[in-house]
Amino acid sequence: MILLLILLTGAQLAGAQSEQCGLCHPEERVEHSLSIHSQEFIQCSDCHGGRPAAINEEQAHGGDFQSLQSRKQIPRLCARCHADPAQMRAYNLPTDQYALYQTSGHGLALVEGNESVAVCTDCHGTHTILRSEDPNSPTFIRNIPETCGQCHGKGGLQADAGTEANQLQDYLESVHARELLEKGNTNAPECSRCHGIHGAAPAGVGDVGKMCGNCHSAALRAFRDSPHASSMVEAGLPECLACHAHHKTQPSRYQQMAQACLNCHAQGSDQYVIGEKMEVLFARAEEELEHAREVIARAERVPLYVEDYLARLEEARTFLLEAEPAVHTVSFSDVDRFTSLSRSLAEEIEAEIDGKLSDLRLRRLLLVVFWFYLLLTVWILHHYRQKALKHRA
Ligand code: HEC
Ligand code: HEC
Ligand code: HEC
Ligand code: HEC
Ligand code: HEC
Ligand code: HEC
Ligand code: HEC
Ligand code: HEC
Ligand code: HEC
Repeated sequence: MILLLILLTGAQLAGAQSEQCGLCHPEERVEHSLSIHSQEFIQCSDCHGGRPAAINEEQAHGGDFQSLQSRKQIPRLCARCHADPAQMRAYNLPTDQYALYQTSGHGLALVEGNESVAVCTDCHGTHTILRSEDPNSPTFIRNIPETCGQCHGKGGLQADAGTEANQLQDYLESVHARELLEKGNTNAPECSRCHGIHGAAPAGVGDVGKMCGNCHSAALRAFRDSPHASSMVEAGLPECLACHAHHKTQPSRYQQMAQACLNCHAQGSDQYVIGEKMEVLFARAEEELEHAREVIARAERVPLYVEDYLARLEEARTFLLEAEPAVHTVSFSDVDRFTSLSRSLAEEIEAEIDGKLSDLRLRRLLLVVFWFYLLLTVWILHHYRQKALKHRA
């Protein structure tokens, strides 16, 4: 019995030590030991084959050994486990990465023999593969732009040879990057939220609107209600991108509204005039909001109770925000509906505060008059009393 135990422990020890690859490859052994694969007892030979128990190179690298130096092999290697539902079920992991990859710009080009495209290990690393939730993973949300930027940035990519395209740099200058990387707003897209993770492909004409509309649904709805929706697709213009940059997307500024129309409509044309008029609507609403803010500040110094007014000013601002997507209808009356809601709410606030302030002034005046008569009465009474006293004396 004891002998059996000893034998078993011995066998187990031998099992644990059966991988000798690390003896000659200490660097890879350390890298691998930090990975999620190592935690799940995946060994060198699960990917490289060979004879793991051997301690001489020739033997170790014998049998079904593969060096994996050809990049073309890699997706298929990873797919051996990751596309197999039976193996992945226990981990509740999707098994679609390989299938999607094959439909991607990367996968299609790899089949054509372009080995400079991304394969699984370019985005995930080779020996220290981590879960994407791990902040050290190259696929952690904040690290994705740099991961793609290894190839799609820094002076351009083989893919863009001859062009100046630098998607990483453009993206880093966008409102989306500022939201995600500086403000930590994880609703803002990195590269893969627009392109797909494993199926990375640029969106084509007719699809851009849907893609941006995943997040900007009000803008998309308004755009679809506009005369632009069908005419732009017919003209081969990529919807949202006819007016907004895809990578260097800039924050909205109503001051540039009419300017944006000039790209396609002549100065002085009916369409341009609509753009100008919409701009004026925004400018007037902004002015009224600013004025209301000043009036509230004045009331606060009196002091008046202003919490209610501040809440209503916020509501007026919200109407103005709702007017922005409505710009995409390029209909003056649609925009006017929201901006005038905003303006009239601001005017209402001003009128109420003005009313209260003049009430207050009136009350103060009455108070002064009241005190004046009171003091006068006291003085007169005092005066007559003194007189009466003098008489008696
Ligand atoms: C006795 C030492 C030794 C053992 C044991 C050993 N290797 Fe190697 N291995 C080497 C040497 C030496 C090289 C060549 C290094 C070079 O070219 O820079 C090498 C190269 C490699 C390469 C790169 C091949 C290439 O074409 O560049 C891989 C992959 C590799 N080994 C994997 C393994 C795996 C997996 C095991 C265990 C099954 C293993 N090795 C066991 C010594 C060893
Ligand atoms: C999940 C699969 C996987 C596992 C597990 C794995 N490797 Fe690798 N290894 C690769 C791939 C893929 C490459 C090809 C190079 C690349 O894509 O970076 C590679 C490359 C190598 C190389 C060549 C390095 C070079 O600079 O070219 C060596 C050596 C190596 N592996 C050793 C090991 C050893 C030792 C272990 C175990 C401690 C191990 N590998 C575990 C997938 C794996
Ligand atoms: C021998 C089977 C096997 C091979 C080959 C394999 N993996 Fe894995 N992989 C696993 C298992 C098992 C896990 C652990 C899943 C878990 O714990 O969530 C895993 C986890 C992962 C994860 C983390 C998933 C998560 O939970 O977020 C990534 C990423 C990953 N592997 C990528 C790769 C890549 C890239 C390759 C090819 C270089 C590869 N794997 C090769 C079995 C394998
Ligand atoms: C162009 C970069 C890129 C390539 C190539 C790539 N991945 Fe990923 N992968 C990612 C990113 C980014 C995530 C993180 C997704 C997330 O957090 O939602 C991810 C997530 C994963 C996960 C976690 C589960 C999941 O689907 O979210 C696995 C497993 C995985 N990849 C395996 C692979 C395999 C296998 C290949 C090769 C066939 C591969 N990946 C190729 C970027 C890539
Ligand atoms: C290892 C380098 C490398 C990495 C990393 C990489 N790519 Fe690529 N990518 C390429 C190459 C090379 C091409 C050109 C393929 C071709 O010839 O059509 C390409 C093509 C593309 C295309 C298709 C372009 C087109 O016009 O068809 C998209 C979209 C893309 N990549 C997005 C991404 C995203 C998103 C990431 C990160 C999640 C990423 N790539 C990571 C090398 C890379
Ligand atoms: C807000 C969505 C969005 C984000 C974020 C985004 N892209 Fe794109 N990308 C697009 C669209 C849309 C196109 C298609 C442009 C066209 O059809 O003219 C595109 C095109 C591309 C192309 C094809 C060549 C080109 O420049 O037109 C590559 C490569 C690419 N993107 C890579 C990236 C990388 C890398 C990142 C992250 C650093 C990224 N994209 C971030 C929407 C986005
Ligand atoms: C994954 C969600 C997501 C996708 C996809 C997306 N965006 Fe955004 N976008 C955001 C977030 C979040 C912000 C910052 C918050 C805000 O202002 O709405 C933003 C901001 C903007 C802004 C500036 C808004 C402002 O008020 O200053 C514009 C313009 C914009 N995006 C256009 C686009 C275009 C065009 C596309 C498609 C090419 C696109 N977005 C795709 C989430 C997204
Ligand atoms: C005809 C030109 C044009 C087209 C096409 C267009 N936009 Fe705009 N967009 C504008 C103008 C003008 C503004 C307001 C001023 C500015 O940002 O320069 C704006 C503002 C925005 C804003 C910020 C205001 C808000 O709604 O929060 C977002 C987001 C936006 N657009 C998304 C989109 C999306 C998504 C599409 C495609 C469905 C699209 N745009 C198509 C011209 C356009
Ligand atoms: C990228 C090009 C492009 C931009 C930028 C653009 N438009 Fe247009 N617009 C078109 C096309 C194409 C049509 C349909 C053909 C036509 O009627 O001229 C159109 C039609 C219209 C129409 C309907 C005209 C009619 O007679 O039915 C209006 C209104 C309009 N645009 C307003 C605007 C406004 C306002 C702006 C600026 C915010 C703007 N457009 C920016 C391309 C553009």
